[in-house]
Amino acid sequence: SAPVLTIDGPSGSGKGTVSRLVAEQLGWRLLDSGALYRAVGYAAGAAGLDLSDAEAVTRCALATKIRFHAAADGGDTRVLVNGHDATDELRTETGAAAASAIASIPSVRQALVELQLGFRKQPGLVADGRDMGTVIFPDASFKVFLTASAAERAKRRYKQLKEKGLTVTLGGLQREIEARDSRDASRTVAPLKPAADAVLVDTTGMPIAEVVAKVLAVVQR
Ligand code: CDP
Repeated sequence: SAPVLTIDGPSGSGKGTVSRLVAEQLGWRLLDSGALYRAVGYAAGAAGLDLSDAEAVTRCALATKIRFHAAADGGDTRVLVNGHDATDELRTETGAAAASAIASIPSVRQALVELQLGFRKQPGLVADGRDMGTVIFPDASFKVFLTASAAERAKRRYKQLKEKGLTVTLGGLQREIEARDSRDASRTVAPLKPAADAVLVDTTGMPIAEVVAKVLAVVQR
Protein backbone atom coordinates (compact mmCIF):
# COMPACT_ATOMS: atom_id res chain seq x y z
CA SER A 1 0.00 0.00 0.00
CA ALA A 2 0.99 3.65 -0.42
CA PRO A 3 3.64 5.13 1.92
CA VAL A 4 2.41 7.39 4.74
CA LEU A 5 4.17 10.19 6.61
CA THR A 6 2.35 11.11 9.82
CA ILE A 7 2.82 14.58 11.33
CA ASP A 8 1.28 14.87 14.78
CA GLY A 9 1.54 17.53 17.43
CA PRO A 10 -0.31 20.15 19.45
CA SER A 11 -1.99 23.30 18.18
CA GLY A 12 0.46 25.89 16.87
CA SER A 13 3.32 23.43 16.50
CA GLY A 14 3.34 24.35 12.81
CA LYS A 15 2.01 21.01 11.63
CA GLY A 16 -0.64 22.47 9.28
CA THR A 17 1.77 24.61 7.29
CA VAL A 18 4.57 22.05 7.43
CA SER A 19 2.30 19.21 6.30
CA ARG A 20 1.03 21.21 3.33
CA LEU A 21 4.54 22.20 2.21
CA VAL A 22 5.95 18.69 2.67
CA ALA A 23 3.03 17.17 0.72
CA GLU A 24 3.64 19.66 -2.10
CA GLN A 25 7.36 18.85 -2.18
CA LEU A 26 6.78 15.10 -2.24
CA GLY A 27 3.80 15.30 -4.60
CA TRP A 28 1.79 13.30 -2.03
CA ARG A 29 -1.82 13.72 -0.96
CA LEU A 30 -2.68 15.56 2.25
CA LEU A 31 -5.07 14.57 5.01
CA ASP A 32 -5.96 17.46 7.36
CA SER A 33 -7.67 15.34 10.01
CA GLY A 34 -8.31 18.35 12.26
CA ALA A 35 -10.53 19.77 9.50
CA LEU A 36 -12.68 16.63 9.73
CA TYR A 37 -13.23 17.14 13.48
CA ARG A 38 -13.86 20.84 12.90
CA ALA A 39 -16.38 20.01 10.14
CA VAL A 40 -18.29 17.60 12.39
CA GLY A 41 -18.30 20.14 15.24
CA TYR A 42 -19.59 22.74 12.82
CA ALA A 43 -22.30 20.49 11.35
CA ALA A 44 -23.43 19.45 14.83
CA GLY A 45 -23.62 23.08 15.93
CA ALA A 46 -25.50 24.06 12.77
CA ALA A 47 -28.01 21.28 13.46
CA GLY A 48 -28.51 22.64 16.97
CA LEU A 49 -27.14 19.51 18.65
CA ASP A 50 -25.81 19.40 22.18
CA LEU A 51 -22.08 18.76 21.55
CA SER A 52 -21.91 16.41 24.53
CA ASP A 53 -24.74 14.19 23.20
CA ALA A 54 -22.56 11.28 22.03
CA GLU A 55 -25.26 9.46 20.09
CA ALA A 56 -26.59 12.48 18.23
CA VAL A 57 -23.10 13.79 17.37
CA THR A 58 -22.01 10.32 16.17
CA ARG A 59 -25.02 10.10 13.87
CA CYS A 60 -24.14 13.57 12.63
CA ALA A 61 -20.49 12.50 12.02
CA LEU A 62 -21.68 9.54 9.93
CA ALA A 63 -24.14 11.65 7.93
CA THR A 64 -22.00 14.75 7.30
CA LYS A 65 -20.54 15.05 3.80
CA ILE A 66 -17.07 16.58 3.94
CA ARG A 67 -15.23 17.53 0.75
CA PHE A 68 -11.89 19.24 0.20
CA HIS A 69 -11.62 21.47 -2.85
CA ALA A 70 -8.58 23.24 -4.29
CA ALA A 71 -9.38 26.98 -4.33
CA ALA A 72 -9.91 28.40 -7.82
CA ASP A 73 -7.42 31.24 -7.14
CA GLY A 74 -4.69 28.87 -5.94
CA GLY A 75 -5.32 29.92 -2.32
CA ASP A 76 -6.17 27.76 0.70
CA THR A 77 -8.04 24.49 0.16
CA ARG A 78 -11.78 25.01 0.75
CA VAL A 79 -13.71 22.69 3.03
CA LEU A 80 -17.29 21.94 2.02
CA VAL A 81 -19.59 20.68 4.77
CA ASN A 82 -22.83 19.29 3.36
CA GLY A 83 -22.19 21.39 0.27
CA HIS A 84 -21.62 24.64 2.16
CA ASP A 85 -18.16 26.29 2.04
CA ALA A 86 -17.45 26.46 5.80
CA THR A 87 -13.68 27.10 5.52
CA ASP A 88 -13.75 30.44 7.33
CA GLU A 89 -16.06 29.30 10.14
CA LEU A 90 -13.97 26.18 10.71
CA ARG A 91 -10.82 28.21 11.34
CA THR A 92 -12.15 30.28 14.24
CA GLU A 93 -11.32 29.50 17.87
CA THR A 94 -15.02 28.64 18.31
CA GLY A 95 -14.57 26.07 15.55
CA ALA A 96 -11.47 24.70 17.28
CA ALA A 97 -13.28 24.44 20.62
CA ALA A 98 -16.24 22.60 19.03
CA ALA A 99 -13.79 20.23 17.29
CA SER A 100 -11.97 19.52 20.53
CA ALA A 101 -15.28 18.85 22.33
CA ILE A 102 -16.67 16.33 19.83
CA ALA A 103 -13.20 14.76 19.31
CA SER A 104 -13.33 13.45 22.88
CA ILE A 105 -16.27 11.15 22.00
CA PRO A 106 -14.90 7.66 21.11
CA SER A 107 -17.75 6.77 18.72
CA VAL A 108 -17.25 10.04 16.83
CA ARG A 109 -13.55 9.20 16.34
CA GLN A 110 -14.57 5.71 15.21
CA ALA A 111 -17.05 7.19 12.71
CA LEU A 112 -14.18 9.05 11.02
CA VAL A 113 -11.69 6.18 10.74
CA GLU A 114 -12.65 4.82 7.32
CA LEU A 115 -12.87 8.23 5.78
CA GLN A 116 -9.30 8.88 6.96
CA LEU A 117 -7.95 5.52 5.75
CA GLY A 118 -9.41 6.32 2.32
CA PHE A 119 -6.91 9.15 1.85
CA ARG A 120 -4.07 6.62 1.59
CA LYS A 121 -3.39 6.47 -2.14
CA GLN A 122 -0.36 6.32 -4.41
CA PRO A 123 2.13 7.91 -4.60
CA GLY A 124 1.79 8.61 -0.85
CA LEU A 125 0.03 10.46 1.94
CA VAL A 126 1.00 13.13 4.45
CA ALA A 127 -1.39 12.79 7.41
CA ASP A 128 -1.65 15.79 9.76
CA GLY A 129 -3.26 15.45 13.17
CA ARG A 130 -3.03 14.30 16.75
CA ASP A 131 -3.33 10.48 16.44
CA MET A 132 -2.13 9.82 12.89
CA GLY A 133 0.96 7.83 13.94
CA THR A 134 -0.59 6.24 17.02
CA VAL A 135 -4.13 5.22 16.00
CA ILE A 136 -5.03 5.80 12.34
CA PHE A 137 -1.78 4.83 10.56
CA PRO A 138 0.23 2.88 13.18
CA ASP A 139 2.05 1.11 10.32
CA ALA A 140 3.20 4.38 8.67
CA SER A 141 6.78 4.22 7.39
CA PHE A 142 7.58 7.76 8.52
CA LYS A 143 6.41 9.47 11.70
CA VAL A 144 7.14 12.94 13.00
CA PHE A 145 5.93 14.66 16.18
CA LEU A 146 6.23 18.45 16.23
CA THR A 147 6.35 20.43 19.47
CA ALA A 148 7.00 24.04 20.50
CA SER A 149 6.65 25.97 23.75
CA ALA A 150 3.11 27.12 24.63
CA ALA A 151 4.23 30.76 24.48
CA GLU A 152 5.60 30.31 20.95
CA ARG A 153 2.49 28.44 19.81
CA ALA A 154 0.22 31.19 21.13
CA LYS A 155 2.35 33.80 19.32
CA ARG A 156 2.05 31.93 15.99
CA ARG A 157 -1.71 31.55 16.37
CA TYR A 158 -2.04 35.22 17.32
CA LYS A 159 -0.24 36.26 14.15
CA GLN A 160 -2.42 33.93 12.01
CA LEU A 161 -5.67 35.21 13.49
CA LYS A 162 -4.61 38.86 13.26
CA GLU A 163 -3.78 38.42 9.59
CA LYS A 164 -7.35 37.22 9.16
CA GLY A 165 -8.58 40.39 10.86
CA LEU A 166 -9.82 38.65 14.00
CA THR A 167 -9.42 40.42 17.34
CA VAL A 168 -7.86 38.28 20.06
CA THR A 169 -5.45 38.88 22.92
CA LEU A 170 -2.18 37.00 23.20
CA GLY A 171 -2.77 36.15 26.87
CA GLY A 172 -6.29 34.90 26.23
CA LEU A 173 -5.06 32.82 23.33
CA GLN A 174 -2.26 31.25 25.37
CA ARG A 175 -4.75 30.32 28.10
CA GLU A 176 -7.09 28.78 25.49
CA ILE A 177 -4.23 26.82 23.93
CA GLU A 178 -3.09 25.51 27.31
CA ALA A 179 -6.67 24.51 28.22
CA ARG A 180 -7.15 22.72 24.87
CA ASP A 181 -3.72 21.02 25.22
CA SER A 182 -4.50 19.64 28.64
CA ARG A 183 -7.92 18.44 27.47
CA ASP A 184 -6.38 16.80 24.37
CA ALA A 185 -3.58 15.20 26.43
CA SER A 186 -5.75 13.95 29.29
CA ARG A 187 -8.72 12.56 27.37
CA THR A 188 -9.01 8.80 27.54
CA VAL A 189 -9.54 8.36 23.80
CA ALA A 190 -6.56 9.08 21.52
CA PRO A 191 -4.69 11.31 23.99
CA LEU A 192 -2.09 13.52 22.35
CA LYS A 193 1.25 11.74 22.62
CA PRO A 194 4.04 10.88 20.19
CA ALA A 195 4.13 7.38 18.69
CA ALA A 196 6.97 5.33 20.15
CA ASP A 197 8.68 5.33 16.73
CA ALA A 198 8.13 9.04 15.91
CA VAL A 199 10.98 11.48 15.32
CA LEU A 200 10.49 14.43 17.73
CA VAL A 201 11.14 17.91 16.35
CA ASP A 202 11.00 20.93 18.70
CA THR A 203 10.17 23.86 16.40
CA THR A 204 10.53 26.63 19.02
CA GLY A 205 12.38 29.48 17.27
CA MET A 206 12.81 27.41 14.10
CA PRO A 207 11.86 28.94 10.73
CA ILE A 208 9.25 26.93 8.75
CA ALA A 209 11.75 26.17 5.95
CA GLU A 210 14.05 24.48 8.47
CA VAL A 211 11.20 22.39 9.91
CA VAL A 212 10.20 21.34 6.38
CA ALA A 213 13.80 20.32 5.62
CA LYS A 214 13.99 18.26 8.84
CA VAL A 215 10.72 16.47 8.04
CA LEU A 216 11.74 15.78 4.42
CA ALA A 217 15.00 14.31 5.75
CA VAL A 218 12.95 11.77 7.72
CA VAL A 219 11.35 10.54 4.48
CA GLN A 220 14.52 10.63 2.44
CA ARG A 221 16.95 9.01 4.82
O1 CDP B 1 -4.37 23.63 14.25
P1 CDP B 1 -4.88 23.02 15.49
O2 CDP B 1 -4.02 21.93 15.99
O3 CDP B 1 -5.24 24.03 16.53
O4 CDP B 1 -6.28 22.39 15.14
P2 CDP B 1 -6.69 21.10 14.34
O5 CDP B 1 -5.51 20.28 13.97
O6 CDP B 1 -7.58 21.56 13.26
O7 CDP B 1 -7.52 20.28 15.45
C1 CDP B 1 -8.62 20.84 16.11
C2 CDP B 1 -9.05 19.92 17.27
O8 CDP B 1 -9.49 18.67 16.73
C3 CDP B 1 -7.93 19.56 18.25
O9 CDP B 1 -7.92 20.39 19.39
C4 CDP B 1 -8.22 18.13 18.66
O10 CDP B 1 -9.00 18.08 19.82
C5 CDP B 1 -9.05 17.57 17.52
N1 CDP B 1 -8.31 16.60 16.68
C6 CDP B 1 -8.25 15.29 17.10
O11 CDP B 1 -8.75 14.96 18.16
N2 CDP B 1 -7.63 14.35 16.33
C7 CDP B 1 -7.05 14.70 15.16
N3 CDP B 1 -6.47 13.75 14.43
C8 CDP B 1 -7.08 16.03 14.73
C9 CDP B 1 -7.71 16.98 15.52
